[in-house]
Amino acid sequence: MADRITAPKLRLMKERGQSIVCVTAYDVFFAQAADEAGIDVILVGDSLGNVVLGYETTVPVEIGDVLHHLRAVRRGVQRAHLVADLPFGSYHVSTEQAIENAILLMKAGADAVKLEGDYPDTIRAMTKAGIPVWGHVGFTPQAVNTFGGFKVQGRGDAGSTVLAEAQSIDAAGVCAIVLELIPAALSAQITQSVASPTIGIGGGIECDGQIQVMHDILGLTNKIHKHAKPYIDGRSLVLDAFKTYTQEVRERKFPTEENSF
Ligand code: KIV
Repeated sequence: MADRITAPKLRLMKERGQSIVCVTAYDVFFAQAADEAGIDVILVGDSLGNVVLGYETTVPVEIGDVLHHLRAVRRGVQRAHLVADLPFGSYHVSTEQAIENAILLMKAGADAVKLEGDYPDTIRAMTKAGIPVWGHVGFTPQAVNTFGGFKVQGRGDAGSTVLAEAQSIDAAGVCAIVLELIPAALSAQITQSVASPTIGIGGGIECDGQIQVMHDILGLTNKIHKHAKPYIDGRSLVLDAFKTYTQEVRERKFPTEENSF
C-alpha cells in the first residue's frame, strides 16, 4: 500500500523530474504484467473500442464497456495508479451526469478518471466530490469527427488554443494532462507552464511522462503509428503459436503423453 502511486505522488514525480511511465490495459493478465514491470500508471482507455472491440473510433464506447474492463484490470493492479476513461457522451450532457458516471468508475476500482477537452467546471465539481481527474488535450479521439480524422493538432497559431485549454484544466485542478499528437515544442511549452504532470502520446520527449496503447508497444496491431514503437512483434508471435498449435492438433502431435492423464 505504501508503494502505491497516488495522484499527489504524480505531482511529486514531476517536481523531482522523474519520468512517469504509463500504458493502457484492458484485462487482468496484461494489467498484472504492466504492474509487475513497474509501470507507474495503467489506463483503462476508451481505446478499448479500437483495440479490443474492433470499432474504428472510440465514439461507440459505453460507460458499461469501460466498467467491465476496469473491474478485470483492478484485480491485476497493486502498485500502479489506475485511471479509467469517461467515454464519449458520459460527461458531455451535464455536470451531474459526469459526476454520476465518474462515481461508477471510482466504485469499480479506479483511482482517477480521465476526460477529454476543456471542461473546467466539470473538473472542479468532480475534484470537489473527491474524484481525481485527468485531462486530455491536443488530438482528443472522441472528437475525431470534428477534426475530420486522426490528425496532429496545435500546429502554428492553433498551438495557442491547445496551450490555453491545458492551462484552463490545470487551473481547474486536474492531476495530470495527456498531450496527444501535438508538436514537441508546444508540449514543452505546456509542460513548463502547468503545475500538473504532462503525459505525452505523440507529444515529444519533454513531457513529464509518456503513455502508449499496450497493443502498439507489444506489436499486436498491424497498424504502425509514427508516435508508437513496437518493442516486440507480438502479432507474429501469436500467429506463429496459433499456426503451430493448429498443425500439431491436425497431425495428432498434440497432446502427447506428457499432456495426458
Ligand atoms: O483511450 C486511450 O487509450 C487514451 C490514450 C491514447 C491516452 O486515451
